[in-house]
Amino acid sequence: MKRLAVLGHPVAHSRSPAMQNAALQKLGLAEEWRYEAIDVAPEDFEARVRAMPAEGFVGANVTIPHKQAALRLADEASPTARAIGAANTLSFEAGKIHAENTDAGGLLAAIGDLPASPPGARALVLGAGGAARAAIWALSKGGAVAHIDPEPRAVDVWNRTGERATKLYDELGEYVELNGAPVDKPTQEDYKIVVNTTSVGLGGEDPFEHLPLDPRKFPGQVVVDMAYGDRPTKLIEVAEDNGATVVDGIEILVRQGALSLEIWSGCPAPLDVMREAANG
Ligand code: ATR
Repeated sequence: MKRLAVLGHPVAHSRSPAMQNAALQKLGLAEEWRYEAIDVAPEDFEARVRAMPAEGFVGANVTIPHKQAALRLADEASPTARAIGAANTLSFEAGKIHAENTDAGGLLAAIGDLPASPPGARALVLGAGGAARAAIWALSKGGAVAHIDPEPRAVDVWNRTGERATKLYDELGEYVELNGAPVDKPTQEDYKIVVNTTSVGLGGEDPFEHLPLDPRKFPGQVVVDMAYGDRPTKLIEVAEDNGATVVDGIEILVRQGALSLEIWSGCPAPLDVMREAANG
């Protein structure tokens, strides 16, 4: 049996096991491969990962709060994972741990499939945490990450706490070209693509109170919300009602999971089956 898992804390809510096992079933691999959820506290993370290859694991997804630790303990990491400073996909091969970040490629794959996504379009990223770094890297280095968009996009970043965005600019500046400095008050209509990487909305907050967005300016924009819950977020609902093309957090989950599965299995991921299971 080849084992796969998602490691998180908490992790019980994760849709990855249902999504990945449905994919393995569709690929005819369900007899040999199995994907499970493992709750690991931060202090146990490294030992848990190091024990996995001997237990039959060939790979793992890593989610909150372990993405940075996953990169640190890897023997090898892709340039994407290094630049973002976090890994969500580990592969165990020949005694080595390899780290990749498929959050970035997943976002690009989702956006790249939309008709309203011209190369070089200007993008606004809301937030300055780990998810923001993956989004910024993906949007500004698209071609290098996923071979989808050969033209880097111009990216602006807004964050509630400005100093955190400035720090992110300093750190990521080595890898990607950002426009000047973080923006204080973004002019929404300047952007073709708006990506929310903040947790606003997950706790029931009104996104239009906490984020610099105006529903009247959504028509013609692509709005991505990296967060997902049991139902579409209010941001996604309102953006769609107001004429935006939307990509929700479930779609990003599906796309990052598909890229991870392709790394581990070498098989093309069955996106429709994964989407149906993730929405289940
Ligand atoms: P992750 O690594 O998943 O991106 P994180 O590092 O905890 O998570 O980042 C959460 C993001 O959501 C941050 O950009 C945070 O803004 P601050 O840096 O100002 O804390 C943002 N965020 C959370 N709650 C928010 C709120 N009520 N209004 C605006 N931004 C919020």
